[in-house]
Amino acid sequence: MTTTAKKPAATPSLAYNGYARKQTAEPNMALCGVGRGTLGGEWHRRFWQPVAYEYELTDVPLRVRALGEDLVCFRDKSGRVGLLHLQCGHRNTSLEYGVIEEEGIRCCYHGRLYAVDGQCLQIPGDPAEEKLRKRASQGGYPVHLFAGIVFAYMGPPETMPIFPVSDRFDIPGLRLVPGIRSIFACNWLQVKENAVDPHHTHFLHVIPQMRGMEHFANEFGNYPEMTWSDTPGGIAYFAARRVGDNVWVRSSEVQGASVHIINSIFESGRERKAASRPFLSFWSLPVDDENTVNFFISHVGDDEAMPFEERRRLEVFGQNADRPYRDRQWIPGDNEAMASQGPVNVHALEQLGSLDRGVAMYRRYVRNGIEAVQRGETPPGVYRDQSDVPPTYANDLVIGIDQFPGNPDDGSALLRFAESLPERYAASPPMLALKNEASK
Ligand code: FES
Ligand SMILES: [Fe+2]
Repeated sequence: MTTTAKKPAATPSLAYNGYARKQTAEPNMALCGVGRGTLGGEWHRRFWQPVAYEYELTDVPLRVRALGEDLVCFRDKSGRVGLLHLQCGHRNTSLEYGVIEEEGIRCCYHGRLYAVDGQCLQIPGDPAEEKLRKRASQGGYPVHLFAGIVFAYMGPPETMPIFPVSDRFDIPGLRLVPGIRSIFACNWLQVKENAVDPHHTHFLHVIPQMRGMEHFANEFGNYPEMTWSDTPGGIAYFAARRVGDNVWVRSSEVQGASVHIINSIFESGRERKAASRPFLSFWSLPVDDENTVNFFISHVGDDEAMPFEERRRLEVFGQNADRPYRDRQWIPGDNEAMASQGPVNVHALEQLGSLDRGVAMYRRYVRNGIEAVQRGETPPGVYRDQSDVPPTYANDLVIGIDQFPGNPDDGSALLRFAESLPERYAASPPMLALKNEASK
């Protein structure tokens, strides 16, 4: 493993300036907040949010927290899934102790029965039941099931969008396997920014190799030339490097409020390809301002050599705080990097560099979305029709150096090539290339 980071230069005039440094500032809650009625919270409430895996729905209710709201999720005995406010509308007992029935969930305290849409079906024993039921109800949200994940729409009913099904979900030969919860004790924006930050991939994810653990492929350790671009679906990075006789350009993408997509963490750039397989697709749920859960699916081919259990172990390594503190210090993962920024990262205390362009672009993307909602418009990443859902740009393009337009050892040539890919992908989306390849 080699890294080609530049040698640090001393800056004596800034030495020992701890006392003079500003150490406190407020987080930008207009951008980061998720509560109901806040600027950010209303933006988040225009998207489908992941709230549970279907396998978590059993014969007892599941308590969940989403966008700062306490909720209960359940599948009634008729098979319908509901997501209701946690506290019963009668006298506020928690429905996490409710009884799941054929037609809904019954509160454990006095037995009011609520359907999955929150309508009150029964008020047992009350002589005024018929009259009371006309105004009794439980707050509820529509749900959509996709690939084993329960998604909820928590915004105004009149702006409910379609659930966007992207071009990476129907690749021949690949199954969609639901993941597990990755729990981060930090604001959702830190989790999304991490996905438009390829710079970290070439340091944080190389630490395991430095300390004797196989994780990402060795080739990630060579610093690439990096660029970022708006895409039809959001923002993507493109990281270009020479690997042997090849040039490898890796791209990952963030879309809307919660989606980010990556291809294989085992990719090495050694095999030439126009398009690489989807590997993981994530949806991040802002639990509240200071907590986030990643839900994900693995795109799994039946032909994979690595046993799935081993792949899953590596997929989720570093994606939560469930390791001993010393281990997390020795080989930190995404969780340690993101959550240690603080419950809500204070942007005013950051010193951004030129490789943080994706972070700045995504913050602008969020601001644009929030302003669109304020104007009563549909924010970017929200779709009214499946035909509007754009192609995805996460990919590993690997070409031979004989095909490369320029000197593959010249950083500016690599950068120019990386910068040309958004246009290339607009004309020929990677997943279309992959499907064409699969149909041969
Ligand atoms: S508190 Fe739920 S039925 Fe009384
Ligand atoms: Fe990472």
